[in-house]
Amino acid sequence: MKNILVTGGAGYIGSHTLIELVKAGFNPVVYDNLSNSSVIAIDRVENIVNQKIDFIKGDVLDKDLLKQTFKTHNFFAVIHFAGLKAVGESVKEPLKYYQNNVAGTLNLLEVMSEFGVQNLVFSSSATVYGSPKSLPIFEHFPRSCTNPYGQSKLMVEYILEDLCKSKAFNAISLRYFNPIGAYQTGTIGEDPKDIPNNLMPYISQVAVGKLQKLSVFGDDYDTIDGTGVRDYIHIIDLAKGHLKALEYLVKGDKDNHIIGFEPINLGTGSGTSVLQLVNAFEKATGQNVPYVIVSRRAGDIASCYASCDKAKSLLNWQAQFDITRACLDTWRWQKNNPMGYQS
Ligand code: NAD
Ligand code: WQD
Repeated sequence: MKNILVTGGAGYIGSHTLIELVKAGFNPVVYDNLSNSSVIAIDRVENIVNQKIDFIKGDVLDKDLLKQTFKTHNFFAVIHFAGLKAVGESVKEPLKYYQNNVAGTLNLLEVMSEFGVQNLVFSSSATVYGSPKSLPIFEHFPRSCTNPYGQSKLMVEYILEDLCKSKAFNAISLRYFNPIGAYQTGTIGEDPKDIPNNLMPYISQVAVGKLQKLSVFGDDYDTIDGTGVRDYIHIIDLAKGHLKALEYLVKGDKDNHIIGFEPINLGTGSGTSVLQLVNAFEKATGQNVPYVIVSRRAGDIASCYASCDKAKSLLNWQAQFDITRACLDTWRWQKNNPMGYQS
C-alpha cells in the first residue's frame, strides 16, 4: 500500500480526496495545521471509510516536523493542498500569502528532495489564467494574475517548472475551476470560517437562514443573463481527479517515465451564470434564495470555463455530476450542519 502525504488534508478539497484515496487502496497521511479546518472533518472521513486516518497536526512552514514526518513514512507522493485561499485577504496581507503558499511549498519541495520523493500533485487554480483571451480555457493559455493569492499559485507553478527542468521530478499541477457540492452522506463539506467569499456557500447559508440575502455582483456582463459565468465542478469529481493524477504517477513510475511539469485543468467544460446557479439551487432543494443585484466585484471576469480535453486524454478523467446533484449535496451538508463542523 502506497503512503501519500496529504498536506491540507483536513480542508474542503482534501477531506473529500481522502475518501477516494482510501477507496482506491492508498494510505493517506494528513498533515494540516488546522488554520482553516477542523479535525472533526477527519473523524467524519474515518466514519465514511470505516478506517483510521493518520493525522499529523503540523505546518508546512515547520521544516523540522516535515522532515520528521518524511523520516517515519515512506512516501510515494505528496498531494499538496495546504494553502491560504482568500483572494481579498491576500490583497490586504500579501506577505502572509507569499510566506504560507510560496515559502511553505519551497520547504516541502526541499524536504521531498532530501528524502528522494519525486512525485507531487499540486493544487493550482483557474485563477492563473487571469482574464482569458477566449473560451474554453486550454492549459497552454498565457498565465497572469492580479492578486497575491493568484500570484502565489503562479509562482509555485514557475518553481515547479524550473525544478522539473533541473532534475527527475514529476509535478502535476491541477488547475481547479470552481469546486462546489459535498459528499453524499452530508457529513463533510465546505465550512468557511467567516462570511463566505465564494458563491455556493453563500447561497446555501442564505437558504439555511444564516445570511439574509445574496448580493449578486453585477448583471451587466456580456453573458447569457448579465451575471458572471463560471465552471462549477462537483467536489467528488474533483477528488477523483486527484486519484487519477496519482494513478498516472504510479504508471509513470512503473514505466520508468519522467513526467516533469504537467498542468491539467479540472472542470466540467461548461459555464453556469450566477442566476442560473441560484435558480438550480432553488429548484433542486425547494428553498428560497433571496438576492439583490449590486455592483461588480473588483477583479472579477465575465466568464471562465475549462477545456477538459487534456484531463480526459492523459488521465482518463471527466466530470460525472451535474449542477443539480451539486446543489442537492450542498444543501444536505448545510441543513445537517448549519454552523459547519461546530454544529
Ligand atoms: P481549505 O482552506 O478548506 O483547505 C486548505 C487546508 O490547508 C486547510 O485545512 C488548512 O488548515 C491547511 N493549511 C493552510 N496553510 C497550511 C500550512 N501552512 N500548513 C499546513 N496546513 C495548512 O481550502 P480548499 O478549498 O480545500 O483548497 C485546497 C487547495 O486548493 C488550496 O491550496 C487552494 O488554494 C486550492 N484551490 C481551491 C479552490 C477553491 O475554490 N476551493 C480553487 C482552486 C484552488
Ligand atoms: C463566482 C461568481 C462572482 C459571491 C474564486 C477565486 C479563485 C478560485 C475559486 C481558488 C462570480 C459571483 C460570488 C457572491 C456573487 N479559488 N458572486 N456573489 O471568483 O470564480 O473564483 O474562487 O483558487 O481563485 O477567485 O468564484 O465563487 O467567488 O464567484 O455574485 O456573494 O459568483 O461575481 O461571478 P470565483 P466565486
